[in-house]
Parts: sequence; C-alpha cells; structure tokens
Amino acid sequence: MSALMRLATEDDAPAILDIYAPIVRETVISFEYEVPSEAEMRGRIRSKLAHYPWLVMERDGMMLGYAYAGRWRDRKAYDWTVETTVYVNAAARRGGFGKALYAALFKALRLQGFVQAVAGVTLPNDASVGLHEAVGFAATGVTHNAGYKFGGWHGVAFFEMTLQPPPDVPSPTKDLASLDWESIVTSL
Ligand SMILES: CC(C)(COP(=O)(O)OP(=O)(O)OC[C@H]1O[C@@H](n2cnc3c(N)ncnc32)[C@H](O)[C@@H]1OP(=O)(O)O)[C@@H](O)C(=O)NCCC(=O)NCCS
Repeated sequence: MSALMRLATEDDAPAILDIYAPIVRETVISFEYEVPSEAEMRGRIRSKLAHYPWLVMERDGMMLGYAYAGRWRDRKAYDWTVETTVYVNAAARRGGFGKALYAALFKALRLQGFVQAVAGVTLPNDASVGLHEAVGFAATGVTHNAGYKFGGWHGVAFFEMTLQPPPDVPSPTKDLASLDWESIVTSL
C-alpha cells in the first residue's frame, strides 16, 4: 500500500499529537513545555489552514508525518516569508517522507506566491539539519541560548531558502482554495 499525501483537517489532531507529544515530552526539538490538548491542536490546524498549507502523509490509516508553514513574523512586510516545519513518525523515519512532504509544501507555497522560507532547528539535531540541507536550505546562523527547557539552555540554528525569485513588486499571496491540490500532493 502506498503512502498518500493530502491537506490536513482538524480531525487529524489526534494522529498528529501521537507524533508530536513525545517530541514535546522527551526532547528539546520543540520548545513547548506541555503537550497541547486535542482541542488546542484542532485550533492550530484550523488557524494555519486559513492561509498556510498543512500537509499530512498516511499509509493504511497510520499517520506517517506532517509538514506545515506559518507566518514567520507579524509585520506587513513579512507577508511573503514563511516558517516551515516537518515531523515524521519515529517508526517511519529515513523513508523519504520528510523530503516528500517538504517538496509538496514548497510547491504549494510557490504557487501561492511566497518568496522566502525560514526554519529553526534546536541543536543538536542531525536529522533535521540533514533534511533541511538536503532540500536546499542554507544555514544563516545560530542563536545561542534561544530557549530554556529541561534545566538547560539550547541554541537554535536558523536556515533559509529562496522559494522563487522575488518579484519587483509582489502581489498578495493566494488562498489555499485557489490551488490545484491534485497537482501538488504526491504518493510514495
Ligand atoms: C527531521 C525528520 C523530519 C526527517 O524526516 P525523514 O522522513 O526521516 O527524512 P527523509 O527520509 O525524507 O530524509 C531526507 C534526507 O534528509 C537527510 N536526513 C534525514 N535523516 C537524517 C539523519 N538522521 N542524519 C543525517 N541526515 C538525515 C538525508 O540527507 C536524507 O536523505 P537520504 O536518506 O537519501 O540520505 C525526522 O527525522 C523527524 O521527524 N525528526 C524529529 C522531528 C524533527 O526534528 N523535526 C524537525 C523540526 S526542526
């Protein structure tokens, strides 16, 4: 059975939490201290999908991973920049799912008109650094002591990738509903 990709829905919250909860509980990959409730995760999915893509990949009803984009910073001039992130089920890592999710996410973002992508990676995280470099991100620097969790300070490496050449004058980014999702999502 192949792995199928699609846009997330709020009903994916429990399966997404199955992947995300151990990351919050056991690692500094996420700087959250508490695992979000299902209602909170439903709200996050809903608010991201108001304008930004959130993709999931599943096989035989099992969530293999997910990737989403969101606003990087608030001010208006940042309208064409996104922050991206990706999580793959621990049992499914190194199977190409992270790369496939990111590739489809970037395709959607390009079609929407986004120009620049940014990602932050708590160090050390060889897998995430490896994936971001493999898909074309370049390191821009490390913010030391960026977060305090589990009794220690942790640095965050930032990465950037130009999604497409910046136009002289950008148009407003397009809504998700205007995209042809059949041409964006892939199967593995
Ligand atoms: C980072 C993560 C999403 C990678 O997903 P994945 O599906 O395992 O990655 P892929 O199989 O698509 O790997 C694509 C490429 O990324 C790099 N990569 C992936 N895992 C790696 C690892 N453990 N060490 C070094 N490079 C790695 C490789 O270049 C790989 O290509 P290759 O397998 O042909 O060598 C996954 O390890 C994960 O979910 N980690 C925990 C959550 C996390 O850190 N998310 C990122 C938050 S910033």
